[in-house]
Amino acid sequence: MNAVKFFIEFLKDPQIGALTPSSKYFVRDVIKRMPLENAETVVEYGAGEGAVTRGMLKKMPDGSKLIAIDTNPELVRSLKKINDSKLEIFHGKVQEFIAKRMEKSVDCAISGIPFTYLAPKEKEYILAHTAKILKPNGVFVVYQFNPLIGKFLKKYFKVAKEELVLSNWPLYTIFTCRPK
Ligand SMILES: C[S@@+](CC[C@H](N)C(=O)[O-])C[C@H]1O[C@@H](n2cnc3c(N)ncnc32)[C@H](O)[C@@H]1O
Repeated sequence: MNAVKFFIEFLKDPQIGALTPSSKYFVRDVIKRMPLENAETVVEYGAGEGAVTRGMLKKMPDGSKLIAIDTNPELVRSLKKINDSKLEIFHGKVQEFIAKRMEKSVDCAISGIPFTYLAPKEKEYILAHTAKILKPNGVFVVYQFNPLIGKFLKKYFKVAKEELVLSNWPLYTIFTCRPK
């Protein structure tokens, strides 16, 4: 999906939370924070049209699994065009994914969903479940325009790093979290 189509989707569905897909520089920047080369299972919350998804799939080994979750039907349509046997797509909210079929354990989780739109209870629900399934040496990476999610993350994870990165406009803050 090109940037114009993405922007039109944003106008129809502001919960997309971004005007354009993440830049290729940002994708490189954010995925280097996860040990994807050795991962068996990865979950992605808010995969959008797949900018970060594609980058992660390139680094993940054969036989591994990436579960990409998104609510927006148009973006999921683009996601479905990715031809990679490692990719599984869940069309719906992360909250529904957790309620229906949460994975038992994951090596890495990454989230770009705009947490600002979620009620505190929903944020807590997502973060508590992610903390439960993350392997002891696992990594949870969160990127957000609004860094206020930091205070919730600290309740469930050790926040190893909080960085404002220049590789995307508007600027994202990336939180790199590990299990407590
Ligand atoms: C900031 S965009 C990131 C898109 C993509 N990962 C990228 O980097 O270009 C956030 C995405 O989260 C999705 N989203 C928002 N709330 C969600 C929720 N509760 N569950 C799943 N996806 C959600 C939106 O549809 C949107 O595609």
